[in-house]
Amino acid sequence: MERVYNFSAGPSMLPLEVLEKAGSEITSYKGSGQSVMEMSHRSKIYLEIFEETKADFKRLFKVPDNYEILFLQGGATLQFAMTAMNLMPRTGKADYAVTGSFSDKAMKEAKKYGEVNIAASSADANHTYIPQQGELKLDPGASYFYYCDNNTVYGTEWNYVPEVGDVPLVCDMSSNIMSRPVDVSKYGIIIAGAQKNLAPAGVTVAIVRNDLPGHAFPYTPIMLDYAAMIKGDSMHNTPPCYSIYVLGLVLKWVDKLGGVPAMQERREERSKLLYDYLDESKLFKGCARPDSRSRMNVTFVTGDPDLDKEFVAEAAKQGFVNISGHRSVGGMRASIYNAMPMEGVKKLVDFMAAFEKAHK
Ligand SMILES: Cc1ncc(COP(=O)(O)O)c(C=O)c1O
Repeated sequence: MERVYNFSAGPSMLPLEVLEKAGSEITSYKGSGQSVMEMSHRSKIYLEIFEETKADFKRLFKVPDNYEILFLQGGATLQFAMTAMNLMPRTGKADYAVTGSFSDKAMKEAKKYGEVNIAASSADANHTYIPQQGELKLDPGASYFYYCDNNTVYGTEWNYVPEVGDVPLVCDMSSNIMSRPVDVSKYGIIIAGAQKNLAPAGVTVAIVRNDLPGHAFPYTPIMLDYAAMIKGDSMHNTPPCYSIYVLGLVLKWVDKLGGVPAMQERREERSKLLYDYLDESKLFKGCARPDSRSRMNVTFVTGDPDLDKEFVAEAAKQGFVNISGHRSVGGMRASIYNAMPMEGVKKLVDFMAAFEKAHK
């Protein structure tokens, strides 16, 4: 069967050549007679995969030496608790910027462990924008400042790194990691579920500045203690071996295409085509404020929920699948992560233009 263009917000498209490589090795990895799925995580052959993946991640994402890269489980959602349980004990309070549903969930989780200050919120305009630096109400005594770099549901993205003095920055990059260069040294902790830009679901990446762990609440489960995870090199227990292997293949693909700067060029090109069309369209309207638009999740509506449904159904028939908006907001959302080829966006825009013409 021909492959569809999958605009899912996650899990989402993986590069075809990664799927083909994984497929070719499914029963025997490099002539070993075993699938990666069947290997002991402590075997020499698996440890080579693990180490190479970590080294490639470090090199491509330019992770400084004073940071640890962890491959964890539980998704980004478990990191909402893990970041709080490890950092909140510093001063008992933390700043949260609430710019969408995932930062809202993270903030609510943190409230269980300390005092939370809403440093900024875009709820007043249904999360269609990102607050600017001058609008942040910062508490210099906060244990950390938390924000979500790309709001998958609402289609907004921070286009600056908040200046928060010496307070460690904690950032959820689940839906835009590896799509643009990041100065990791500005962050205390970066977290990311893998199932958008990195790998299949199952592995969660945490990049942790190595002076931060070691102060978790005493009741913190060992699996949620960064210090223990670092000590065990992500292998305190069995890690998500297969997802880590596919992550390794994705990183090789990123490298081959020119690394993270090439991913940035691709994301600018893809999203520009779609936003330019939306700005011209008389039928479709982009939801996010132009200065806050995400380059990964493009949200739009026609203004008529029935017509939105018709569009989504017609698009699926034409091979553009999973383009409906999040169940909480409706409308449409085209998620155009790293693996989405330009051709997919070009064809989508052609289809949108044809739909618009037919619905004048
Ligand atoms: C920005 C962001 N944060 C967190 C999550 C939750 O991730 P997980 O399902 O891995 O817990 C998602 C999932 O879509 C997301 O997009």
